[in-house]
Amino acid sequence: MRRSIKTALACGVLLLPGLPVAAQTTPNPAMNSPDQLAWQFFIQVNTRAGGSNALFETWASDSDTFKVNPQFPTTPAPLALHEPAVPDAGRVALQRAGKLLPAIPPGKGALEESRRNKESFDFIVQNNLYKVSGLRAAFGKTISFPVGAMEVKANWMLVTDIPDFSGGKVTLADVPKLYHVNTGADGKQYAFVSMHIISKAVPNWTWATFEHQFNPSRCDIIGCRDSFGAQTSPVGPNSQAKQGYPDCAKTPALKAMIAAADWDPAFANYCLKGSQTDFTDATGLDVRLGNSVTEDGFVDQSSCITCHGRAAWDSKGAATSQAGFDDNGAPLGPIQPSWYWSFSSQPPIFQGMSGLAQIATSADFVWSIPFCALDDTQTPPKVNRNCKGK
Ligand code: HEC
Repeated sequence: MRRSIKTALACGVLLLPGLPVAAQTTPNPAMNSPDQLAWQFFIQVNTRAGGSNALFETWASDSDTFKVNPQFPTTPAPLALHEPAVPDAGRVALQRAGKLLPAIPPGKGALEESRRNKESFDFIVQNNLYKVSGLRAAFGKTISFPVGAMEVKANWMLVTDIPDFSGGKVTLADVPKLYHVNTGADGKQYAFVSMHIISKAVPNWTWATFEHQFNPSRCDIIGCRDSFGAQTSPVGPNSQAKQGYPDCAKTPALKAMIAAADWDPAFANYCLKGSQTDFTDATGLDVRLGNSVTEDGFVDQSSCITCHGRAAWDSKGAATSQAGFDDNGAPLGPIQPSWYWSFSSQPPIFQGMSGLAQIATSADFVWSIPFCALDDTQTPPKVNRNCKGK
């Protein structure tokens, strides 16, 4: 399976099962059949990798990456879970702008971890992008990850919290059958509830997010869309929040892919919520995509590609926004030149014009770089406070 995906990607084509050979290939699957590619990636990253681990659980976490001597893990480690940072950053930004009343404490906690494959890890380390001195040195350069780079962000919840979270749809005894379960560093059992997957198969990355079928807010606010794997697509949002959605019954094409997968069978209980290939649609409307767990509290203003397009650092190596948020909340639509340039005249703004000065360097959409970089301008080097506990 893994090899065939790599081969397909290397050729830039995707083989569609059941079609005659002549009609078999889709050029540029990342753009033309993103939902299908998203499922291929979901199966790839969740393929068995020894013990109870899926492949992504053997990849490098943020704490393996943003430290004095970054190490790609050689032996399986427990889940690198921590409190999610993004919804909190959003709450702080909105409070500062007077738009949100003082903290509604975040809901009963899903914990989080991000992990990256070797291609992605090596690129960050070889270019010194894991530390502030390296970000300063790379200021003004164009950062571009290799096409094989992949990163994921996963959310997990205590197994004992699942019966309640699922609205009573799952008994405690059934959690290990219906959810992928693994052990945290605290020795407790956690159930996998959500996953973001990004890959550098196209220059602006591919963006997709998955949820367990019983996540109570799975299609709330923005609905769910899976034109490849779901028999019903789109699924509109319920009028009331947290009521749950019908199973994402799977198409024969997806069932065939799943039948060939070597993974924990519990992974078949997850749904593709959607994928994102651009900033706006062809009519200029902002494209939104957000996960009910990972982007909890701001799904209505979540655009993966836009917020990640704001991942940048200044000449001092510091992030130029608070996890992408500003006083209006999370950014939607195209990347704004004002995030990257100062200019003395009115638009149009263009490269090479006089009075244009660069104020930020793009992290090529990888937020953890400006968010987590080790501060090695201090002695001893200081782990970024955003990444403590990661
Ligand atoms: C409002 C901003 C924002 C939005 C919207 C957002 N993210 Fe992120 N994302 C971040 C930040 C900040 C981090 C790094 C900190 C952390 O790990 O929480 C991150 C981390 C990640 C990572 C780990 C790799 C990395 O870039 O550090 C992945 C993968 C990811 N996000 C995918 C997605 C996907 C897919 C979506 C849309 C469904 C999305 N994100 C929506 C801000 C955002």
